Amino acid sequence: MSRVEKHNPLKDGALSRKRDMMGVDTGKAEIRELTFDTVKRDALQFGLATDVMFQMNAGKEASIFLAVWKEHPIILKAYRLWQTSHHLSKSKGFVPVGTSKRTHCILGMAENYAVVEYDLLMNCFRAGVHVPTPIGRVGNYLTMRFIGDGKEPAPQLKDVTLLSPEKVLDQVLDDYFIMYTQVHYVHGDLSKYNILWWQERPWIIDVPQGYKVDTHCDMDMAVFLLGRDIMNVLSYFETYGIYRDPEVTMRRFIGAYTPKNIESYDLTELSEML
Ligand SMILES: Nc1ncnc2c1ncn2[C@@H]1O[C@H](COP(=O)(O)OP(=O)(O)O)[C@@H](O)[C@H]1O
Ligand SMILES: [Mg+2]
Repeated sequence: MSRVEKHNPLKDGALSRKRDMMGVDTGKAEIRELTFDTVKRDALQFGLATDVMFQMNAGKEASIFLAVWKEHPIILKAYRLWQTSHHLSKSKGFVPVGTSKRTHCILGMAENYAVVEYDLLMNCFRAGVHVPTPIGRVGNYLTMRFIGDGKEPAPQLKDVTLLSPEKVLDQVLDDYFIMYTQVHYVHGDLSKYNILWWQERPWIIDVPQGYKVDTHCDMDMAVFLLGRDIMNVLSYFETYGIYRDPEVTMRRFIGAYTPKNIESYDLTELSEML
């Protein structure tokens, strides 16, 4: 058997051989590509949805489906168990290809992403940030509230014309301020693409690359990500002729919360960063 054939993830025989070879506990997660039928079967079996309608989008790590719970539309997010090798570099802390540990890492990672996203959504929701309410999670799947009407998701901020942009900017920054100061996370990918416009207000989505700002964090990284998010948001609103100083906004955030062990974080280089 050729190497390619042996590792073809779509080939059932290769899959079960690989699973056996790796000694993966088949009672837990299985190694499979995310086909629509697999996702639907799992979601129904796990009690996460009563039906899965169609795939809405396929991102790098996860695919998003429109599903229903009874008559209510919901979002089903499925984290992929297979990743291409460049996502699994040694530098990210994963062991090299061809060892059973690696397989466990992949399974663990997919589930871990779903756990992180579910918990972060829940903590944001409880703190009052306008995010899709998380509903359930099993293994590498999670469900959340569908933001939109019928089968039509709410438009991204980039696709709407705002009547009161100044107010919307305040709403976005107020939500992000709660996320940073109370949930202690930076979003990491906040932009006009990951903010939906629904029921006359902005909703923050796509949180899985959030970075936890705590006593163990790399504060330079947190500040970098926070700065990038704030710049993205402010530059979108500049298209409406609204100008706010990113440095002032950053200082307001960081002044309101820094982890206990880095309270004296040096902000002198902030203006060069922005
Ligand atoms: N909770 C949700 N309600 C409605 N639509 C959603 C929801 N989550 C995601 N979407 C839709 O899927 C698109 C992609 O979702 P996102 O979480 O940004 O994933 P990614 O950017 O990683 O592909 C969004 O722009 C939006 O159209
Ligand atoms: Mg997105």
